[in-house]
Amino acid sequence: MLARTDPAPESAFPPIDLSYIEAMEERADRVVEKVRTNSYAPSGRKPSLLFNATQLALLCGKSNSAMARLLDKAASLNLTDGAQPAPNGGTAGKKRIFTQAEAVDWVRAVSDTYFKRPPGSMACTLTIGNFKGGVGKTVASTSIAQALSLMGYKVLAIDLDPQGSMTSLLDVDRMAVDDEQTMLPLARPLSDAGHRDTLQESIQETYWTGIDLVAGSPSLFNAEFYLPMRQMNVRQEPTFRFLEVLDRALSKGIRQEYDYIIIDTPPALSYVTMNAFWAADALLMPLPAEGLDLMSSTRFWSMFTQLARSAEKTAAAPKTFAWIGIVPSKVDHTKQYTKFNLDVMRAAYGENLLNAELPLSSAVSVGGTTLATVYDIQKYVGSKKTYERARVAFDQLAAQIDFLTRTRKWGQIVKETPLQVKL
Ligand SMILES: Nc1ncnc2c1ncn2[C@@H]1O[C@H](COP(=O)(O)OP(=O)(O)OP(=O)(O)O)[C@@H](O)[C@H]1O
Ligand SMILES: [Mg+2]
Repeated sequence: MLARTDPAPESAFPPIDLSYIEAMEERADRVVEKVRTNSYAPSGRKPSLLFNATQLALLCGKSNSAMARLLDKAASLNLTDGAQPAPNGGTAGKKRIFTQAEAVDWVRAVSDTYFKRPPGSMACTLTIGNFKGGVGKTVASTSIAQALSLMGYKVLAIDLDPQGSMTSLLDVDRMAVDDEQTMLPLARPLSDAGHRDTLQESIQETYWTGIDLVAGSPSLFNAEFYLPMRQMNVRQEPTFRFLEVLDRALSKGIRQEYDYIIIDTPPALSYVTMNAFWAADALLMPLPAEGLDLMSSTRFWSMFTQLARSAEKTAAAPKTFAWIGIVPSKVDHTKQYTKFNLDVMRAAYGENLLNAELPLSSAVSVGGTTLATVYDIQKYVGSKKTYERARVAFDQLAAQIDFLTRTRKWGQIVKETPLQVKL
């Protein structure tokens, strides 16, 4: 019998050993790193968004004329009127420009649709998951965080993926992230000097006003060793439950601090991912309208419930969620089976299938290269219609998330159907 490393008897090619793979990895890493730093490195360089008066009116849910009347009263409302100096010097011109922070201040002050979390209630923790890779989890998590912040909410984004893609989209260099800025200290054993049971110290501000971040970095992989190790070490930590580590940390002062906590997870049902589900009030699964993705989605739910059921036996309380949503993602209506697959999804998931639908769009995929979401794009180089379709889809998803949260988590009676956002 041949040993596994033996070449095929007739092969003239040497076997591929681990040193070969190491060399390949080093070369690829150098090239990728060079491209990243030359073109789209997240380095705190993302410009902050600017809004004109029309865009501000849309954010505030006002007509242009109603907004103009409000802008005239800006000083009495203690808000900036955004007036820019005329190009030739002189007095202020007609052009008004607002930074993102100023725009959010306006939304909070005058929007009829801005809703304040009821006093005493906690943040809605929303975990975005699907163990299938590349379905749009990170794009959705980041875009939802941005959309909710533009609605006036205070958002904490938690990146639990060692790939750190959400961290990169939020303009933080994931290779420069310190372990202390991630959730890793929560997973470290008690005896470890780096152990912590709170998250406050891990939070950093981002370039985006209204979104704070607990970053993701490659060292998050270590949590996959620490958590089961601690679970087995009953003598040292008799009451330790691996599943509740993040949940408990969020309950220590974080849930009252934010309106939404948005958690992006890796494409695996790992110990860390299970923590994200356990800490969640709501679950969102982006699901492409493709046959294979659909089939694997049912397996996801069965594996998830099996794991959760066995964990529940030792849990402090049974696990419940305020709402669960499945959102069709990367939907391409030019494909032959899309409509059929969407019908199957509707039949399979019933009321849990959200009305919002994320189209397969170059306005989204371009962001995969330039590290931008539809909310980062100040001026889309391409068809306006393409951009608007993608932007409206994410606006509608965020509006539906907010509707579900207000009614099912915060106990609000919300009469109107989810906001229809027009650009
Ligand atoms: N609606 C869309 N239209 C076009 N491209 C999209 C869309 N959503 C996501 N993509 C692209 O698909 C790729 C995967 O998206 P994303 O990283 O969000 O998926 P993911 O589920 O988080 O992946 P992973 O499982 O690896 O974490 C990215 O290149 C992204 O730009
Ligand atoms: Mg991802």
